[in-house]
Amino acid sequence: MTKNHVTPWEVEGDVNYQKLIKEFGVSELKSLPEIFNKEILFRRNIVFAHRDFQKILEAIKNKKKFVMMTGLMPTGKFHLGHAVIAKQFIIYQELGAKIYIAVADIEAYTTRGQSLEESRKIAIEEYITNYIALGLKPENVEIYFQSERSNKPDKANAYYRLQNLLSKHVTFNEFKAVYGDVTPGKMLASLLQASDMLHPQLPEFEKPCPVVVPVGIDQDPHLRLARDISKRFKTIKFDQLCSTYNMFLPGLKGGKMSASDPNSFIALTDDKKTVKDKINKYAFSGGQDTLEEHKKKGGNPDIDVSFQYLRMMLEEDDNKLEQIRSDYKSGELTTGELKKYTIGKLNTFLEKHQLARDKAKNKIDRFVNRK
Ligand code: TRP
Repeated sequence: MTKNHVTPWEVEGDVNYQKLIKEFGVSELKSLPEIFNKEILFRRNIVFAHRDFQKILEAIKNKKKFVMMTGLMPTGKFHLGHAVIAKQFIIYQELGAKIYIAVADIEAYTTRGQSLEESRKIAIEEYITNYIALGLKPENVEIYFQSERSNKPDKANAYYRLQNLLSKHVTFNEFKAVYGDVTPGKMLASLLQASDMLHPQLPEFEKPCPVVVPVGIDQDPHLRLARDISKRFKTIKFDQLCSTYNMFLPGLKGGKMSASDPNSFIALTDDKKTVKDKINKYAFSGGQDTLEEHKKKGGNPDIDVSFQYLRMMLEEDDNKLEQIRSDYKSGELTTGELKKYTIGKLNTFLEKHQLARDKAKNKIDRFVNRK
């Protein structure tokens, strides 16, 4: 049995996604309209599960207004794993969604003890700069800090008021069932996150409309709770929250990329030599121990981290990917060759990205502190 432990604040071991689908009661995401297929993450089922996503598909089809809302906990370096969510912003923006992004600086304070100043700095220099470089446009975007929702009092009041009113509609036992270990900080963080997800529908914002929340599967407990609470809240008839869940990009050594271990991730600011060294030294290989054995038995692409990076992010060409998969399986392609190809792909992507990052730095003001 695979060992796994997945909560909003901890992801350990190898994640068994099929098991989580059952355990969490989410639905598998299948056959999306053509327009989603241009993004690898959707085409290859890396975004693999959902709740009520058909509402979003209907809104897109009928050209009705909808919102994409998500949040980020600003800790450590922005790495390839974070790009999985960011790439989804871009496609929703192209599809006409209004984009809401919460910087979870309060959550970082209550659950990790990180100061608001530190969170602000990391959010801007790491996250937002990279979002812009990856293609996020300033139109129709609201990026805000949980500690500072808006300069406009009516908007700010509405957001914090909702967090407080929602507390009436949840019990302590529900918190315990959803989160296991409960502290006052975690309770407030999850109510604030519920307000993050629901407040776009308040009269001060967009009014009731479909909202999709793309997240890692670890965040589903927050969605379950927010969906339940919102049904009990009678003052406003919220459109039920929709969500999609993506798989985690594996860390170099397997498991999840962890911001606290630089040898577990590729940062979007890593230079060419660092990338080469990290992949060669740490990227877990599905190949055999000796070349001779590899040629005879072949490798296992499903557990090979380099192959997974190609599949989840770097290799756009489906035919090429399948060729690599079968050559690796047959043993024709060695681990060394696969790593070399992956390093090349990564460095090409990062070179372009880092130029875009330099330009993005001057555009921050168009995204933050406007609303
Ligand atoms: N809890 C999320 C995390 O740890 C961050 C977050 C805050 C969030 N508010 C949100 C995610 C609203 C989705 C929607 O990364």
